[in-house]
Amino acid sequence: MITTDQTVQLFLDFFRERGHELTPGGSLIPSAGDPVLFTTSGMHPLTPYLMGRPHPLGSRLTGRQRCLRTTDLDEVGDDTHLTVFEMLGSWSLGDYDGAQSLRWGFELLRDGFGIDPGRMHVTVFGGDEQAGPDHESWRTWSELGLPVEPTTDENWWSNGPTGLCGPDSEIFVWTGDEIPHGTPTSDDRWVEVWNHVMMGYLRHSDGSLEPMRRPCVDTGLGLERLVGILRNARSVFEIDVFRPWLTTLPRIWNPLDERSLRLLSDHLRSGIVILGDGVTPSPSGRGYVLRRLIRRTLTTLWRDDPTRTLSDLPIELVRHTLDHFRQSTDPHQMRTLLLDEERKFGQLLQRGRKVLSRSRFTGPLTDADYHYLHDTHGLPRDLVVYLNTEAGIG
Ligand code: SER
Repeated sequence: MITTDQTVQLFLDFFRERGHELTPGGSLIPSAGDPVLFTTSGMHPLTPYLMGRPHPLGSRLTGRQRCLRTTDLDEVGDDTHLTVFEMLGSWSLGDYDGAQSLRWGFELLRDGFGIDPGRMHVTVFGGDEQAGPDHESWRTWSELGLPVEPTTDENWWSNGPTGLCGPDSEIFVWTGDEIPHGTPTSDDRWVEVWNHVMMGYLRHSDGSLEPMRRPCVDTGLGLERLVGILRNARSVFEIDVFRPWLTTLPRIWNPLDERSLRLLSDHLRSGIVILGDGVTPSPSGRGYVLRRLIRRTLTTLWRDDPTRTLSDLPIELVRHTLDHFRQSTDPHQMRTLLLDEERKFGQLLQRGRKVLSRSRFTGPLTDADYHYLHDTHGLPRDLVVYLNTEAGIG
């Protein structure tokens, strides 16, 4: 069965054989001056080059990039969503067109990874009041014999409210037991693995679109999802990189229901990667995202048993994750940071329990109460809700 590393190698080799140079890829932290907190897509570090600046490695690029998305936080624990995940990408900086990209995408999935085209479905941009349908992608897929579903909102990709954007075409693979049926928007057993963006426009702040002088193609493939499909796994958590987590955590924290096990594996692994990229817990910005992940981990752990502690986490798991993401931070130092955060959170909860036991807070809380608890006692609303649930209130 193919491993995650072999999948990466096959992808990168395919594109290098077709004239693509390997970009360094890497950190979750965008470069200085970038308004977003974390890298959310493989193309992110390439933004200036997609906008027109010549790239030192040329006009055909490929690479691997770790990404973080907190928009999906509540979905973590299902079969396909992760907080930190990896994207494999290919880029044409004004070189070949979208149709070529789709043809290579099809060839790699079918011949390289051995996916039966009978299990593939694609979507294309069907047009809206500002841009017409993506006829070229539609025609290309029809020539390749794949079923096509047009959509509007789901097939327009943008890097933010303004800036780079364009129609995209997504490739889905059927993961159900029965014969493939339905379409990607009507049956979620069609799992999206690879998005090809025909990056042809710039959106201005007044909402208008300006066609780019040098259109590009940006593709991003979800690594863990593809490996899951290739290994016939029920979820992304059953692939090789998660195996150490899934076998170790139930041994140290028993019992754990499946959703908690998945959430803990995702959040702890993501927390380690964020720490590995040099972020430390703090009350705002990147550090707050990290803090939230650690706190969600701890509330999940303590819900069933308040004596559980992150000091039980074997150092090998930390090391395994750092090795996978090619990070050189000292795992012992990282463990110290995690334990420090655990101690602080434990103290905050204790303080919170004391404050909430005052008669003023025993009834239903008003917005003013929440503001007071936050501003005066540093207790965020979700924590108050957690403590009240723990105490059997609300
Ligand atoms: N930018 C696109 C995405 O993130 C393709 O890489 O889906």
